[in-house]
Amino acid sequence: MVTDSPIIIALDYPSLDAALCMADQLDPARCRVKVGKELFTRSGPAVLEALHGRGFEVFLDLKFHDIPNTVASAVQAAAEQGLWMVNVHASGGRQMMEAAVQRLEQHRLTTHLIAVTVLTSMQATDLADVGISAPLAEHVERLAQLAKQSGMHGVVCSAQESARIKALCGDSFLKVTPGIRPSFSVANDQQRIMTPSQAMQAGSTHLVIGRPVTQSEDPMLALQAIEAELGVG
Ligand code: C5P
Repeated sequence: MVTDSPIIIALDYPSLDAALCMADQLDPARCRVKVGKELFTRSGPAVLEALHGRGFEVFLDLKFHDIPNTVASAVQAAAEQGLWMVNVHASGGRQMMEAAVQRLEQHRLTTHLIAVTVLTSMQATDLADVGISAPLAEHVERLAQLAKQSGMHGVVCSAQESARIKALCGDSFLKVTPGIRPSFSVANDQQRIMTPSQAMQAGSTHLVIGRPVTQSEDPMLALQAIEAELGVG
C-alpha cells in the first residue's frame, strides 16, 4: 500500500510477535513503519515479509557503514526485499555512498537511500574524541552536503537541523526526523524535541515517532491526534 503520510512509526520491539501485535493496531494507509537493529537481528527478513504482507511500506534502519562494495551489496539486498527506505552512515564517505547509489540504479531499484549525518546522541566532545574538531552543526552540514553530492536521496537529521539542510540541499532532499513529541506526550529520553507540526514547518519531510504512539493505550487514536495536529489524514 502506498501512503502519502509523513509519519513513520518506530517498531522498537525485541520480537516478531510484539512488533506485529503493534503493526496490527496500525493502518498502512496512514503511516509507514521502521524496523531497527534489535528487531531485525532477532527476527531477520521474516519481519519485513510479515509487514509487507500487511501492506506496510518499511524503512529498514540498519545504518550500514563498511567498505563501498559491502555496503552497496547490503543496500541491494535490502532493496530487493521491497523496502521503501534504507540508510547508511554518511561518515562512511563519498565512495561508499556513491557505490550504494550506483548499485540501486544499476538494478533499477527505487528504494529511498538516506544517510545518517551525526548521531543525535553525539556531542562536540564526542566528535573531538574521534578527531573531528569542527563545530557539530558545521559537521552535520558538511555530511549532508556530501550525501547530496554522492546522490543520496536524503538524510536522517534532528528537526533542529532541517531548516539549514533544506537551505543547503533543497526541498526534495529528504529530511527524516526522530525526536518528535506531539503536544499530548512525554519526552522520555529524547533531549531536543519538537512537535510534529514544528518539525514539518522547519522542513522535515518525514517524522519518525515511536513511544508516543506505540506506548499509547490506543495507538490509532494517538496517530489520529498527530494527524489532526498536522492537518493531514
Ligand atoms: O520512541 P521514540 O519516538 O523516541 O523513537 C525514536 C526512534 O528514532 C527510535 O527508533 C530511535 O532509535 C530512532 N532515532 C532517534 N534518534 C536518532 C536516530 C534514530 O531517536 N538520532
